[in-house]
Amino acid sequence: MADKTEKRVAVVTGASRGIGAAIAEALAAQGRHVVLVARNADKLNEVKAAIEAAGGEASVMTCDMSDGEAVVKLIEDVADQHGRLDILVNNAGITRDNLLLRMSEAEFDDVIAVNLRSVFLACKTALRPMMRGKWGRVINISSVSGLVGNAGQSNYAASKSALLGFTKSLGKEMAAKNITANVVAPGFIETDMTDVLPDVVKDGAKAATPVKRFGKPEEIAGAVAYFASENASYTTGQVIAVDGGMTMC
Ligand code: NAI
Repeated sequence: MADKTEKRVAVVTGASRGIGAAIAEALAAQGRHVVLVARNADKLNEVKAAIEAAGGEASVMTCDMSDGEAVVKLIEDVADQHGRLDILVNNAGITRDNLLLRMSEAEFDDVIAVNLRSVFLACKTALRPMMRGKWGRVINISSVSGLVGNAGQSNYAASKSALLGFTKSLGKEMAAKNITANVVAPGFIETDMTDVLPDVVKDGAKAATPVKRFGKPEEIAGAVAYFASENASYTTGQVIAVDGGMTMC
């Protein structure tokens, strides 16, 4: 059901497929105008068409999230074009897995640039339009790797773990401004990112998950849609793991 306040503007990065596309569809179903961001306009236009076919509203903007200047310009352009920016979902993310002994500086730096630095820049730039609107929702997509670590992912886990401290600090800074900041930490979800994993890794992940299956992108989108909703106004600085029980104590 759509929220009462229609046509708030939401930016979803990494919206061309997988979890980001599902988040974009969920926010559009909430009545938001969703700005779909990734590098490939063709794929984004497919997601836009799906949203419009379902009766939602979306637009497309390309951006390489590893390019800091482009990230700042993206957020400024959204605020200029729409006159507002209410919801920011930092979902774009990459892996460059390797054991630490073998990990190159490029593998470390590339992951930090997309998964963490872009979030810093997008959030920083989005705060002014959110403050102008006296309302804001920031949702950052972390990972269970950021909660408990994962062999072969020290770079990725570092970037995803950093999002927790970053988001909680942002939440504290902005609480009085009616801007919330929360984290969703997915477990193993069926997307192109996990499709490439060897079967032995997939089987191990399923065995370590109490519900004994991978999650679906829609199951992450549901948690994001809650944090983005009007009713989530008293929820900030929180981390919800949507992981089939993998990290429950
Ligand atoms: P995916 O690889 O299927 O999609 C990633 C999205 O980010 C794509 O739209 C891609 O185009 C975009 N992207 C990547 N690099 C970019 C760049 N430099 N500039 C702009 N866009 C870029 O990944 P998936 O699985 O949908 O993951 C989405 C988020 O969820 C990521 O942050 C990922 O780390 C996180 N996550 C995923 C899990 C999974 O099991 N699939 C588990 C935990 C977290």
